[in-house]
Amino acid sequence: MPFDNPADGPEHGARCSGARIDTDREVAMHTAEPSAPGYQTGFGNTFSSEALPGALPIGQNSPQRLPYGLYAEQLSGTAFTVPRSEARHAWLYRIRPSANHPDFKRLGSQISGIEQGPITPNRLRWAPFEVPAEHTDFLDGLIRLAATAAAEQADGVSLYVYRANASMESVFFDADGELLLVPESGRLGIDTELGRLEIGPLQIAVVPRGVRFRVELLDATARGYLCENHGSPLRLPELGPIGSNGLANPRDFLVPVARYEDRDGPVQLVQKFLGELWACELNHSPLDVVAWHGNHVPYSYDLRRFNTFGTVSFDHPDPSIFTVLTSPGSVPGQANVDFVIFPPRWMVAEHTFRPPWFHRNLMNEFMGLIQGVYDAKAGGFLPGGASLHNRMSAHGPDAATTRQAIAADLQPQKFENTMAFMFETGQVLRPSRLAIDCPQRQTDYDGCWSGLAGTFDPNRK
Ligand SMILES: [Fe+2]
Repeated sequence: MPFDNPADGPEHGARCSGARIDTDREVAMHTAEPSAPGYQTGFGNTFSSEALPGALPIGQNSPQRLPYGLYAEQLSGTAFTVPRSEARHAWLYRIRPSANHPDFKRLGSQISGIEQGPITPNRLRWAPFEVPAEHTDFLDGLIRLAATAAAEQADGVSLYVYRANASMESVFFDADGELLLVPESGRLGIDTELGRLEIGPLQIAVVPRGVRFRVELLDATARGYLCENHGSPLRLPELGPIGSNGLANPRDFLVPVARYEDRDGPVQLVQKFLGELWACELNHSPLDVVAWHGNHVPYSYDLRRFNTFGTVSFDHPDPSIFTVLTSPGSVPGQANVDFVIFPPRWMVAEHTFRPPWFHRNLMNEFMGLIQGVYDAKAGGFLPGGASLHNRMSAHGPDAATTRQAIAADLQPQKFENTMAFMFETGQVLRPSRLAIDCPQRQTDYDGCWSGLAGTFDPNRK
C-alpha cells in the first residue's frame, strides 16, 4: 500500500521463550502484538499517535499554525455534552481538511437487502452465502439480513454478511453507526484514517461511526459478518461479582498507530447516510491523517484471548457470561446489542443437561458461526450461515443434540475448534426481503425440533 512514513509501533513480536505453541489459541495467548503495522493497547483510553515527529500539537488542540502545515479537525462520535464516560471524539491532524470535497451523489448501486421484508415471528436460518464469482469488494458484497429499525433511528442495529474477492479502491465511512466486523474466512487489512488494523477469522474489528476506511483483502476471498450499531458505542461489559479480571481484558484490545497517504488523484469517497450509499470523487486520498489523539478510535481484538467463565458445579449458565462487548440500551441492564461468543471451553457440569436449555426470551438473537460446530445444533448451522430467533420464539437444542445430551455419560469434556457468536438485541430484528426470499434460507428449519416427541411417563421418576 502506498503509505508513507509508517509510524514506529511498539516493538513486540517475540513469543514467550520456552512456551509450547501447538494450538490456535496458544498462538494467540503466547504471541505478543506484531511489530508491523504497530499497535497501541487498551480499551477506552485516550490514545495518541503521530507518524512524523512533532506532528501532534502539545498542550492544545488547535494552534494557530500546525506543524508540517497540517489542518486540525475534530471528529465527534457523541454529542459534546454527554457525560465523560460516554464521550467519544478524536482530533485529527491531516494534510487536507475533510471539508474539501464536492457534492455527494446517490449511488445507483445500493446495499443488497436494504428493502425490509414482511414481518414474521418465525424462526429463521440461512445456509452460508457464497463469495460471488464476479469482482466484488467488501462494500459490493454486503447483504443486509436484518435490522431493528430504519437507519435514521438513534438506536438499534442492522446486521449483514459480507463476501469479497477484491480489495476496495474506494474509501468508505458510515454516518449511520459504528461497524463491528466478524470475519469467518479470509484476512482483512483495514486502512483507516487513524491507521491500519489487520484481522482474520477468530479476530474482530470495530470502526467507529464516521471514521473513513478501506478494506484490503489479504487472501483471495473473504467472508464474514457485520453489525452496524446505531446506538451507544460498544464498550466492555460490567463484571459484577466476577471481579476485576476476566472475559475480554482491556489490555488485549489493539488500536492502530498513525500512518498516512500523501497521494493526489481521483479517489471515490462513499458514505452510508440514512441507509443509502452516496459518493463523491476527491482529488486526494482521505486517509491523510498524520497525527491524532482521542478515544473515537478503531480497534481489534483476538477472540482467543477471551477469558471464558462457566459452571464448575451444575446447570447451564446464562450466555451473558460470554459477552465480549455491549452497547447499552435505554432500559437499565438491557443491551441495545451484546456481542456474545461461544468459544472453546471445558464442560464439567454434573447431573446437568449440558447444552443450552430450551428457552423463550425477550431479547432477540442473531447467531453466526465462525468455525466448527455449535453445541446446540448437530447440523444445518454452518460456518458463514446464520440464524434468527426473535422475541418469545421458542428454540433450543435440536432433537439429535437433546437426545444425545440426555443419554450422555457426563465426563469432563473439552469443546475444541468451535466459535459461534450472537448479536443479541433489545429490539426485534426485522428480516430483509432478500433474507426471506433468498435460496440460502432453510425453509425446513422448524424440522430440527419436530422429532422431540413426548417422553412423559407418569409411572417413571
Ligand atoms: Fe437462544
